[in-house]
Amino acid sequence: MSDKSEACLKLLEMIDQKTAVIGIIGLGYVGLPLAIHFGRKGFGVIGFDLDSRKIDKLLHGESYIKHISSESIKEIFDAKQFDVTIDFSRLSEADCILICVPTPLTEKMEPDLSYLLQTTGTIAGNLRKGQLIVLESTTYPGTTQEMLLPRLTSNDMKVGEDFFLAFSPEREDPGNKKYTATNIPKVVGGITKSCLDVACAMYNSITRAVPVSSTQTAELSKLLENTFRSVNIALVNELKILAHKMGIDLFEVIEAAATKPFGYTPFYPGPGLGGHCIPIDPFYLAWKAKEYDFSTRFIQLAGEINVSMPYYVIEKTMEALNNHRKSLNGSRILVLGAAYKKDIDDDRESPGYAIMKMLLEKGAIVKYNDPWIPKLHTTRKYNFQMESTPITPELLAGMDAVIIITDHSDYNFAEIVEHSNLVIDTRNATKGIKGAREKVVMA
Ligand SMILES: NC(=O)c1ccc[n+]([C@@H]2O[C@H](COP(=O)([O-])OP(=O)(O)OC[C@H]3O[C@@H](n4cnc5c(N)ncnc54)[C@H](O)[C@@H]3O)[C@@H](O)[C@H]2O)c1
Repeated sequence: MSDKSEACLKLLEMIDQKTAVIGIIGLGYVGLPLAIHFGRKGFGVIGFDLDSRKIDKLLHGESYIKHISSESIKEIFDAKQFDVTIDFSRLSEADCILICVPTPLTEKMEPDLSYLLQTTGTIAGNLRKGQLIVLESTTYPGTTQEMLLPRLTSNDMKVGEDFFLAFSPEREDPGNKKYTATNIPKVVGGITKSCLDVACAMYNSITRAVPVSSTQTAELSKLLENTFRSVNIALVNELKILAHKMGIDLFEVIEAAATKPFGYTPFYPGPGLGGHCIPIDPFYLAWKAKEYDFSTRFIQLAGEINVSMPYYVIEKTMEALNNHRKSLNGSRILVLGAAYKKDIDDDRESPGYAIMKMLLEKGAIVKYNDPWIPKLHTTRKYNFQMESTPITPELLAGMDAVIIITDHSDYNFAEIVEHSNLVIDTRNATKGIKGAREKVVMA
C-alpha cells in the first residue's frame, strides 16, 4: 500500500502522461522561457501575468524579450500548448503552478516580498485539491516554509496530502545558448516527501531534478551560487585596481591562471555588477542572517567593492581626459552599452546607469548606444529620457571619450578604436585590436 495520498498518485500519473497543466505566474525573463520549454515538451501551459501589455503581445505571437524569438512563442501557440491570461481565477485549471514573480530589494536594501505575497494570496484564493505549487523566485532560506505554507494551508487543505509545496530555484542565464531550461539541472526541495516527489517528477520531464532534503536547502543553494559569483567578481575587481597600479594586465593574469586544470574558476572584472540577481540576492541572505545575530562579512565586503566600481571607471575616465588636457566637465562622452551584460536587453541594476548619472552630475555631455536597448527606461532610481545614438565614424570622432560598459557582439571594436579619440575599456573588449593602442585606457 502506497504512503502517498490519492491526490498525489493522481498528480504523478498526470505528470507522467503529460496531461498535467502547468500554470506559470510571472512571464518575465524566467517565466516566459520556462513556459516555452514546458510547451515544447508536450505539456499544456497557461501563463499568468498582471501586465496586460505583455499578455496582449503574447496573444499576438510577439515576444517582448529580445533573445526569445516570436517564432518560439507562435510555435507553442500553434501546437495548442499555450494560453496566457490576466484572469487569475483560471489558476484552478492548472495542476502545477510555478511562481516566477520578482523578488527585489526595498530602498533600505531589505527583501521586498510584496509581489510574492500578493501572488500567494491569489493562489490561496483559488487553491484546489491535487495542485502542486513551486516557488522559483530567488529568496532567503525559510520563505517557502514560513511565508507560503501558512497562507496556503487550511482545515481542508493539508500539505503533502491535498496540495503539494516545493521550492526550486531558477538558474536561467538569459542569452546563454549553451545552457537552457532543458539542460540546467533543477535543485528541488519539498515541504514533505510527497511534495518533493511530485515536484521532481515534474522537473524530470523537462530536465534533471536534483532532490535535496528541505526547501531551506534549495533556497540557500541558490544564494550560495550567486554569493559565490558576487564574492569572486569583487575579488577580481579589487585585484584589477591593484594590477593597474602595478602596471600588470589582470586579464592576461586571469587567462594564465585559467590554464590550471583544477582548483581555479576564472571570473572577470568589469564596471560593476548588474542584473536582477547578483547585486540583489546576497542581501537576501545577509538580511536573514541578522535573525541569527550573524554578520555575513564576505557579502558585505563584496557588495562594497562591487558598488565602488562605477566610481573607479569615472576616476579612470577623468585621469585619461586629463592626460589629453581636458576636463570631464564639458566633455562629450559616448557610453557603449546600457544592458548589464552582453547580448541581452536587460538593463536592471546596470552599472552603465550609475556611470551615466555621475558623468552628467560632473558636467559631461552624455550620449549612449545600445543595439539591444533603443530607449532608456525610467527606473526607480533613474530617468534619463535618452535614445540610443547610432554609431558612425563622425559620431565617434566628435566624442572626447567613449566608455565601453557592455561588450555586445554587434560592436565592431576595431572601428570604434580607429575613429575615437579616447576609449575607456572596462571589459577588455579591445583586447584583439593591434593598432592605436595608445587611445585605449583599461578601467
Ligand atoms: N532574470 C534572471 O536572469 C533570473 C535568473 C534566476 C532567477 N531569477 C529570479 O526569478 C524571479 C523573476 O525574475 P525575472 O527576471 O523573470 O523578473 P521579471 O521582472 O522579468 O518578470 C516578472 C514578471 O512577473 C510579473 N508579475 C509581477 N507581479 C505579479 C503578480 N503578482 N502576478 C503575476 N505576475 C506578476 C511582472 O509583470 C513580470 O512580467 C526573481 O526572483 C529573480 O531573482 C531571475
